[in-house]
Amino acid sequence: MKANPKKTTRWSISPSQKKILDALFKSIPIKNPRTVIDAGSGRTSIHYLAHRFKNIVITGIVYPGDRRKLEPILACVPEDNYQIAQTDIRKFNPRQKSEIILAHLFLGEATKFGRNTFPGVLKKLLSLSSKYLVIVNLTSDNIDYVTLIKEIKRKGVIVSLVHASTESGNDCIGMVIKLQ
Ligand SMILES: C[S@@+](CC[C@H](N)C(=O)[O-])C[C@H]1O[C@@H](n2cnc3c(N)ncnc32)[C@H](O)[C@@H]1O
Repeated sequence: MKANPKKTTRWSISPSQKKILDALFKSIPIKNPRTVIDAGSGRTSIHYLAHRFKNIVITGIVYPGDRRKLEPILACVPEDNYQIAQTDIRKFNPRQKSEIILAHLFLGEATKFGRNTFPGVLKKLLSLSSKYLVIVNLTSDNIDYVTLIKEIKRKGVIVSLVHASTESGNDCIGMVIKLQ
């Protein structure tokens, strides 16, 4: 699905989400990546990436038919340098290696669709070929942190860790993983 040029809804990114994403992306040494994926896309993450990396086309992944996310993206995101792939991440096999993958509030929904399990989705995310993986979760998300850290250790190293509060008072934890 291509970006829709008719955006009518007034919307702006949450300042706290922008702040946490800025802090995380600042710590990634690749300033002009050629391939960036938004795993578990939504208006905040796809807007952030498309705005930050204006010279490339960002690929966002949304679970097939997830209109909760598809419609706000099309209505709110002013950039047109993105495309949305509707696919279960378990079946996502990009031809090109990525330089950066963002999983923004994605893992909290790992078990929402199909028969996906948290370890299954996490292993697939960590096996996607990329130099860096950025993960952002709310502490209120249903995340198995023991499994998360164990799997990260198998695949790479956490090079940056950020904590922030959202406007609604939720705690948000973000990390940058340098993959091996
Ligand atoms: C809470 S939303 C992410 C929020 C989003 N990053 C934003 O900025 O608004 C979770 C996203 O993960 C996607 N998702 C959940 N399970 C998935 C799966 N197995 N494969 C692909 N996408 C999935 C949903 O369709 C949705 O786009």
